Amino acid sequence: MFARSGPPESFEALVHEMSTQAFTSSDSDWPPLARENFASNMHRLANFREILRYVPQYRDKVFVIAIDGFVVEDDNFRNVLLDIALLGSLRIGVVLVHGASHQIRRLAEATKQQPSNFDGIGLTDAATLQLALTAANRVTHEFLEGLAAADLRGACGNAVVAHPAGILGGVDQQWTGRIDGIDVSFFKALLERDIVPVVPPLGCDGEGLTYRLNSDAVAMEVAKALGAAKLIYLTSVPGIEVANGSTSPEVLRQLSLEEAEEMLKKHRNDLVEPSLSKLTNGIRACRGGVPRVHVLDGRTDLGLLTEVFSNEGVGTLIHVNDYQAIRVARKKDARAINALIKAGVESEELVPRSLAEIERHISDYYVFEVDGNIVGCIAIHPYLDQKKAELACVFVSNKHENQGIGAKLVQFGEGQAERLGAKELFCLTTQAANYFVQKGGFQVGTPDDLPPPRRQRYDVSGRKSKVLTKSLPPAKSTAI
Ligand SMILES: CC(C)(COP(=O)(O)OP(=O)(O)OC[C@H]1O[C@@H](n2cnc3c(N)ncnc32)[C@H](O)[C@@H]1OP(=O)(O)O)[C@@H](O)C(=O)NCCC(=O)NCCS
Repeated sequence: MFARSGPPESFEALVHEMSTQAFTSSDSDWPPLARENFASNMHRLANFREILRYVPQYRDKVFVIAIDGFVVEDDNFRNVLLDIALLGSLRIGVVLVHGASHQIRRLAEATKQQPSNFDGIGLTDAATLQLALTAANRVTHEFLEGLAAADLRGACGNAVVAHPAGILGGVDQQWTGRIDGIDVSFFKALLERDIVPVVPPLGCDGEGLTYRLNSDAVAMEVAKALGAAKLIYLTSVPGIEVANGSTSPEVLRQLSLEEAEEMLKKHRNDLVEPSLSKLTNGIRACRGGVPRVHVLDGRTDLGLLTEVFSNEGVGTLIHVNDYQAIRVARKKDARAINALIKAGVESEELVPRSLAEIERHISDYYVFEVDGNIVGCIAIHPYLDQKKAELACVFVSNKHENQGIGAKLVQFGEGQAERLGAKELFCLTTQAANYFVQKGGFQVGTPDDLPPPRRQRYDVSGRKSKVLTKSLPPAKSTAI
């Protein structure tokens, strides 16, 4: 998506670079390579447009990004910091929380010690606390160095207040801490000055004592306290993985909070670390008001930006708010609908419609949104003299196919047609007859089933579409 030759000077500079590369000469003068470059730049600009859609919704919001110690040692770590610089240039405040268990393990091996735990869960004896302090401080410093290399200012403080975890299950947890508070004003003061806070998995109490904490839990508490728009876990697996009996575990792509809770309840034993910890803390973050939690592999180049700025993402999304919705189309959606159905028109799946035509009948259209972007549509054209309605322009973008969106749109369309007073639904299709019959319960009809004005247009079009029909039960509820 973006060049990696160095840190982005500014967001505007990136826009300028991409647009000048794309538009500096006329197409006809170009040799094939230049043409290929043009196509690739157009693709980048299309991606760029997708990014721009998200920018207003994230401006002045806070993202808490938790990075496992494993990721810090990977070659992609520097790229992650460049991507964080880009988020900053979009006026997104970023707080970085890091783990250190990988570094503690390495340090313990090098010094031939046996830590009482690696991840801040379980007992921390005095020697392990010392290992954690050394390893975590080193990692914090690597963050500060990396931020400096990306032209960003960073700072680490004592803003996570902790107390001893105490005696659990009859065992004194010694230097393992429990997070007791987050100094929100400290974080806000740094963010207001464009300084990236860096938070280690350690906390201090009022006596000046340090306790070992789990970084996933620190990130969750910081995200809740700051009212973050996102909590993003960059880890060493592609997302939340659940063992399903086969050799490779299944990566979960998208879970509502309720689904995530159900998953934890029923499949706790099938979730191995780091997935179990991310899911547990992700759920706590969502319950505490963070609307979205992402879990993804921090070693994948462009993973962070793809997760934040595309509908599909690359890892696992746990979400609270209504992520998907069907709504009535507005006049300003006509252009997006026109662009969405272009591929269907080109492949003759849909009848061509002009922008003006869509605008004229916009009140018949409904759109399916994912994260504020239109990815599917449907139109219900009423013929109420005949107590019929046409279900038309059913389309789902190819990126979102096979996720049940078509079925939701058709079901929704049926409900709308019922509410309008239709007793029968019909649909014309050239290539999706099986879909409507097998998935939607439609029956194969004939052109004689069409209301007279529609039959006339059917005959003129010459498309010879299949006619499908479905009887509707009487309406149950009022119009939306
Ligand atoms: C038809 C369409 C709306 C389905 O959308 P979708 O969101 O992918 O569908 P769903 O997720 O609800 O259903 C997917 C299932 O339908 C099947 N399916 C999808 N398109 C199909 C088609 N044209 N014919 C038969 N089956 C089809 C899939 O194989 C999948 O089957 P499975 O559940 O057994 O694995 C979508 O493919 C599309 O936009 N097609 C082009 C436009 C079109 O033809 N519209 C109809 C005329 S108005």
